[in-house]
Amino acid sequence: MSIVMKNIDTLAAVPPGPLAGPAMRDIPLIHDATLEIRYGKIGWFGPAADAPSRLEDEQTLDLRGATVIPGLIDAHTHVPFVGNRADEFARRIAGESYLSIMQAGGGIRVTTQAVREASEDQLVESNFHVLARMATRGVTTIECKSGYGLAPEHELKQLRAIAEMNKELPIELVPTYLGAHAVPAEYEGRPDEYIDRISAPELLRQIADEGLARFCDVFCDAGAFTVEQARRVLTRAAEVGLRPKLHADELEQIGASRLAGELHAVSADHLEKIDDAGIAALRDAGTIGVLLPGTSFFLGIEHCDARRLIDAGLPVALATDYNPGSCMIESLPLVMNIACCQMHMLPTEVLAATTANAAAAIGEQHRIGAIQRGYDADVVVLAAPTLNEWFYTPGRQLVAAIAKRGELIWIPPSATEQAPPET
Ligand code: NIG
Ligand code: FE
Repeated sequence: MSIVMKNIDTLAAVPPGPLAGPAMRDIPLIHDATLEIRYGKIGWFGPAADAPSRLEDEQTLDLRGATVIPGLIDAHTHVPFVGNRADEFARRIAGESYLSIMQAGGGIRVTTQAVREASEDQLVESNFHVLARMATRGVTTIECKSGYGLAPEHELKQLRAIAEMNKELPIELVPTYLGAHAVPAEYEGRPDEYIDRISAPELLRQIADEGLARFCDVFCDAGAFTVEQARRVLTRAAEVGLRPKLHADELEQIGASRLAGELHAVSADHLEKIDDAGIAALRDAGTIGVLLPGTSFFLGIEHCDARRLIDAGLPVALATDYNPGSCMIESLPLVMNIACCQMHMLPTEVLAATTANAAAAIGEQHRIGAIQRGYDADVVVLAAPTLNEWFYTPGRQLVAAIAKRGELIWIPPSATEQAPPET
């Protein structure tokens, strides 16, 4: 089974990640291009004038007026959760900080209460449509974290809900265990005991053996867990094959990104408060820096200095951090626009950050995130003739179609505000 996409105005031929420095912005843009999808994989692609004649006989799609990019990858979300914290949102607008609300008993613990009361089926029911909406925005792979159960049975429930949704959805979910997200109320003042409970070898082994998570993450920051506690959890998790990730340097600088480097974490995420030693540690360890400008936008705090990281040669990814407390933005394209307009990242850099580098942030750069022969045919068709024209209209839905492993799904024109290109 093959599909040939013809007359593509712009094909953003993103190479496999990780991409650093100038390689992030020098993405090959092929005009008047052809792209072949063969048995779910990317086949031939290049300028139409060079296309092999065998492609003439295949089922073709005329994509005049469209840009084609690799499927977007949201490498950091906190799906699944239930409930909302709109009251905290209003309190923050009125002047309270995220940290002070958390220290006064609000924040993550409020969502924990709601998640503990929900069944696995309820988690699936409430989060399935969010993930489906994310897909209509061009996202073909989503990293999903536990971290609101904060007790073994409820963390497992969240991870099982992710597995269930992964079976039902046409896109791919990548699960991460985040038991060390916050100290639950019943462990107040006893964080080390809590750490031992959620990083007990039997629990970690069960998570790994049942394939319920591929990564282990820790919120290592002021008001959350210390570097020492994070090291303990991540070292134990690595012993059963759960690769380390870290929430690092978001609220305060406590050395979390240096720990990420020391442990050769797959990614270190947030980084608003990263210092030069942290940048060097990540770069030397091959750790991807995942920036979450939707969160700094939503919290009204300063963005991470993306240019400093890129100029230092660190491969940078971008993700939503979609969660009920610090970023209720489910649209990765909107976060990409924030990165352009407020972090001064170029459209090509932003694309590299949400495809090739986002794939590297979930350890899948050998298979997805690029327009490369033999890679999974995860692609997005945009109703805009150039990449710049897509970025030029923040908030507009211009995704006309997505393909996951070659399975094409057209997004209804009512949602795109524009008819899809002729087929
Ligand atoms: O990534 N920083 C820690 N965790 C989330 C916030 C979670 C919440 O407030 O519910 C984040 O920003
Ligand atoms: Fe997060």
